[in-house]
Amino acid sequence: MEIVITDTPEAGAVLVADVIERAIGRDRASVIGLATGSSPLLSYRELIRRHRDTGLSFADVEAFLLDEYVGLHADHPESYRSFIKRELTDHLDLPGSNLHSPDGSAADLAAAAVAYDRAIVDAGGVDVQILGIGRDGHIGFNEPSSSLGSRTRLKTLTEETRIDNSRFFDGDIDQVPRHCMTQGIGTILDARHIVMIANGDAKAKPVALAVEGPITAMVPASALQLHPHVTVIVDEAASVALTHADYYRHTYRNKPSWQTL
Ligand code: GLP
Repeated sequence: MEIVITDTPEAGAVLVADVIERAIGRDRASVIGLATGSSPLLSYRELIRRHRDTGLSFADVEAFLLDEYVGLHADHPESYRSFIKRELTDHLDLPGSNLHSPDGSAADLAAAAVAYDRAIVDAGGVDVQILGIGRDGHIGFNEPSSSLGSRTRLKTLTEETRIDNSRFFDGDIDQVPRHCMTQGIGTILDARHIVMIANGDAKAKPVALAVEGPITAMVPASALQLHPHVTVIVDEAASVALTHADYYRHTYRNKPSWQTL
């Protein structure tokens, strides 16, 4: 894992956008995995800026969302599909038919989950997967105790995650769905390059557990240690619990040729 500690979240967002721009530069028809949550928002704003100011085109890109609530219609303002359209894809030239998200309102959710994994494979697999991390170490909506080999499937949200996400539902936890459909940890690990973003002191503990702790289903993000090409981009506040922070700074920061760039 490459751990890049940046002075500010804004500096990290530039690096994330660089990774995506390079992937698109190598292959215009690249497949990008998108995450919701606040962590990637600055990166998305930077991609929108590059599209507007430099002509970075997403016309041939396929985008796959990590997860979706079950029980919210896709048009609900807090569905993850609505979120990513509002925060990113509506501002790019990505064709609407190239945005894929798990179908949380399917009549047959199990079949929809299998079809979603198949669609990712049919698109050629994810080239760059953007990830955030939950306070309990979840990735996508794979809560603690999720199988490290899991595929896209129905999951139940923890109380902690529903409390965290109630800020998007007028602070009312009763409005937060109890279930979701999420790419599995095994699905996520199939991506060729994974970029995890974490900012702020609330993420310091889960980041340290994910990067330096044992690989365990109780910290789903720790499964990323099994992947050959993961870049973790954290600001100073999210890095404070890392035992080897100085080593990471020395190895990865201000190094123009670090592996992904
Ligand atoms: C949600 C999403 C995750 C996201 C996490 C952290 O639960 N399903 O994909 O990583 O929240 O969100 P934030 O980045 O807002 O802290």
